[in-house]
Amino acid sequence: MTVLARLLLASLLTVGLELGAWNLSAVEAAAQTVGEVPGNTLGNRSDSEFWRGIRSGQTGSVSTPDERAGVLIQSEGDNWRARRNGPVSTYGAWLMLTAVVLVAAFFAVRGRIRIDGGWSGRTILRFTLLERFGHWLTAISFLILALTGLNILYGRYVFLPLIGPEAFAAVTLAGKYAHHYVAFAFMAGLLLIFVLWVRQNLPDRYDLGWVAKGGGLLRRGVHPPAGKFNFGQKIVFWGVALGGVAVSLTGINLMFPFTFTDLAGLQTAQLAHSIAAIVLTALIIGHIYIGTLGMEGAVDAMLSGRVDENWAREHHSAWVEETRGRHGGSPAE
Ligand code: HEM
Repeated sequence: MTVLARLLLASLLTVGLELGAWNLSAVEAAAQTVGEVPGNTLGNRSDSEFWRGIRSGQTGSVSTPDERAGVLIQSEGDNWRARRNGPVSTYGAWLMLTAVVLVAAFFAVRGRIRIDGGWSGRTILRFTLLERFGHWLTAISFLILALTGLNILYGRYVFLPLIGPEAFAAVTLAGKYAHHYVAFAFMAGLLLIFVLWVRQNLPDRYDLGWVAKGGGLLRRGVHPPAGKFNFGQKIVFWGVALGGVAVSLTGINLMFPFTFTDLAGLQTAQLAHSIAAIVLTALIIGHIYIGTLGMEGAVDAMLSGRVDENWAREHHSAWVEETRGRHGGSPAE
């Protein structure tokens, strides 16, 4: 045996002995730490390369009819989730909280806006039965949609720890069905109030003066003229109309996945749906405040449909003159 042959044999023996000393799990552990697939069963692709493929949405093959199932991790979906659970949820919560704080601060400083001239005892018809029906159809359905929708976004942080997983799952599932069906009542109400009120919500000659005087909301005894709807109410009307259309269209897209858009369209729709709904909720917090606690005499307009004549003269003097013109000199009916 030559020297070379002896050396070769010796080194082979050494390698063999060393391999024998390793057990399989040690091999696996070593392979994992150096970024290889355990056991090298699929060749020498490293785990990190594997993961990169999955994370960038590489597809595999599946035998089910739905080929989308071949995507193990949809990368854009991960980005979408991060946006939804990150900035959208966080800033959304801040926005709604800010609306509540502003309303509370306004109440603390200004208090309830009273009828300066006191109750006259005479009333004027402000909203017909159809107008009130349209308002409450929109309002009640919106409140149900807002509560069930917010539960989908925030419930896991707020209610899940309070009521536990079983109750939370049951409530959320019921809420999801309510959200889907009530959405149609909201869209019907939205269409109705839009048709009934759009003309009176177009800009008019009173708007600028109304804004210049802060709507007369800031001080007692200030009453800028306004038509049926003042500028502040027009903001609410157009906010509800545009925001309502935004949540409706994005919502329908989400309700029938892959019918109107692809996956990227669905992800954008979900983010737009949440953002529009949250902005609308913040606006409605202000609206509900001024319609109930914030202003004496306002809620009657939407309950009985009739408002006190002094209330009407203080907040909508031009509208009172108009109705008086139409009803032969007397605003009362
Ligand atoms: C408890 C909930 C609510 C109350 C008490 C309430 C009350 C009122 C009142 C009193 C008015 C008439 C104001 C006037 O006579 O000038 C009004 C108008 C209106 N409401 Fe509501 N509302 C509520 C919820 C909602 C919701 C959820 C929406 C829409 C999503 C909505 C949309 C409107 C619109 C567009 C108007 C006409 C513009 C305006 O007056 O601001 N309301 N509401």
